[in-house]
Amino acid sequence: MGNIVLLDELTINQIAAGEVLDRPANAVKELVENSIDAGAKHITIEIKNGGKSLIKVIDDGSGIKKDDIFISFERHATSKIRRLEDLENTYTMGFRGEALASIVSVSKVTMTTRTKEDELGTIVHAEAR
Ligand SMILES: Nc1ncnc2c1ncn2[C@@H]1O[C@H](COP(=O)(O)OP(=O)(O)O)[C@@H](O)[C@H]1O
Ligand SMILES: [Mg+2]
Repeated sequence: MGNIVLLDELTINQIAAGEVLDRPANAVKELVENSIDAGAKHITIEIKNGGKSLIKVIDDGSGIKKDDIFISFERHATSKIRRLEDLENTYTMGFRGEALASIVSVSKVTMTTRTKEDELGTIVHAEAR
C-alpha cells in the first residue's frame, strides 16, 4: 500500500481557505468587496471579538437570486466571469469565486438576501461538515 491519498473536499477547501483568509480581517475584506461588486451604496459592518465571534456585513446591493444561493457557496462559483478572456473587461474586486467557499469552510455562515424582483427574501445557514 502506498502512502499517497487524495485529500477530501473539506480539507481541500480548508487549505484553500488559509490562502484567502489568514485572519478574520481578510473575511471582512472579502465580504465588503462582494458588497461593492454588488453595487451597494451603503455597507454596515459589525465585528465582535476582533471578528472571531462575529463578522456581520449588511449591504443594499443587488442581492442574490434564489437559484444562485446554494451555488454561491461552492468553490470557483462566480457570477463575475465566464472565461479567462473576460478578465480583460472585468472591473470587479473579486472573480475567483473562492471567498464564500473559504469562509464557509472555517465558520458558520448565515446569508440573508433578497433581490428587488423578489417579494420575499431567503435566509440560509451554511457550515462545513
Ligand atoms: N453581498 C453580495 N451581494 C450580492 N451577491 C453576492 C454577495 N456576496 C456574494 N455574492 C455572489 O456570490 C458569488 C460568489 O462570491 P465569492 O465567493 O466572493 O466569489 P467572487 O466574488 O470571486 O465572484 C459572487 O460572484 C456573487 O454573485
Ligand atoms: Mg468575492
